[in-house]
Amino acid sequence: MSEIQTIPVQVGKGYEVRVGHGLLDTVGKAVKESFPDSRTVIVTDSNVAPLYLERVLDSLRLAGIDAGSCVFAAGETHKNMETLTGILNEAALFRLNRKDLLIALGGGVCGDMTGFAAGCYMRGIPFIQIPTTVLSMVDSSVGGKCAVDLPAGKNLAGVFHQPSLVLCDIDTLDTLPSEFFADGMAEAVKTAVLTGGRLAELCLTPDRDNVRSIITECIRYKAGVVQRDERELGERKLLNLGHTAGHAIEKCSGFQVPHGHAVAVGTAMIARAADLKGLSDGSVSETVEKMLLAWDLPLHTSFSADDLLEASKSDKKAGGAGITAVIPRSVGHCELMDLTFDELYELFRIGL
Ligand code: GLY
Repeated sequence: MSEIQTIPVQVGKGYEVRVGHGLLDTVGKAVKESFPDSRTVIVTDSNVAPLYLERVLDSLRLAGIDAGSCVFAAGETHKNMETLTGILNEAALFRLNRKDLLIALGGGVCGDMTGFAAGCYMRGIPFIQIPTTVLSMVDSSVGGKCAVDLPAGKNLAGVFHQPSLVLCDIDTLDTLPSEFFADGMAEAVKTAVLTGGRLAELCLTPDRDNVRSIITECIRYKAGVVQRDERELGERKLLNLGHTAGHAIEKCSGFQVPHGHAVAVGTAMIARAADLKGLSDGSVSETVEKMLLAWDLPLHTSFSADDLLEASKSDKKAGGAGITAVIPRSVGHCELMDLTFDELYELFRIGL
């Protein structure tokens, strides 16, 4: 399976997600085709820069594109306004103008911040996503949600800004440390609980040869959801499965627990709670736990229901009186449910 798969996302002007091997070397050609006469700044982090920055710069130079770079310190703790300001400043120092673009080369943190910077630099310029982690390939690089964390909570400042192209080079996963690999598989398992079917079967088998298919299935599903509900007014909220407890765990840990590991625990918690409360077919948690264990992901947290509830109150999905949770009725069928904070506390308590 060495050909490139192309998944269209019909939102706004529409864009393609390409999945395949060796795509890093196609960046220059892709930019030249879509943005002739443009200049660009590649935004990447201190982990990814030594691995892939020169290669992507070479590809751009070969295509005759003037490109600069901006490297920020890796990690969720740097996904903040200060780093965002640094990216905007680099764009300005490189004299990017409205017909130019940014390129995000890295994981979810890089993609989120680059997209946010592109969405507000000169009131909006295009950007390209080149995700280099499982997490950013299966979820965050597609759909245009771009944000930074504030001291008050995760992803509290941001914009919807769709990329112009997403290039998922599967080869970049070869250098991904195993804990980052597992981290992304949590979002794939989350998607499998939403879709059931082939993706759920693939996620039950911890075989790295399945990963390209898992990524492609997740992107196809997400592209459909984003096309139907770009602004998360309804169906897109389903993608937050496991994220209510997940975001709370991240916040309680001072963002030391990585996003995917927190989402894994959040998904396991809501599956156990749904089974125990009679909200599901009674067997969701068994399958969810099997999928998570297959990819070395955690099922439990040591934070209390009180800690998690307090953190959830500042979740951007929370209203004054409660929060919309995603309840897995069965693997392949999830529903939104409006909960009061008392009801949420009860689900946290029994799901722990
Ligand atoms: N990561 C969830 C979404 O894009 O809606």
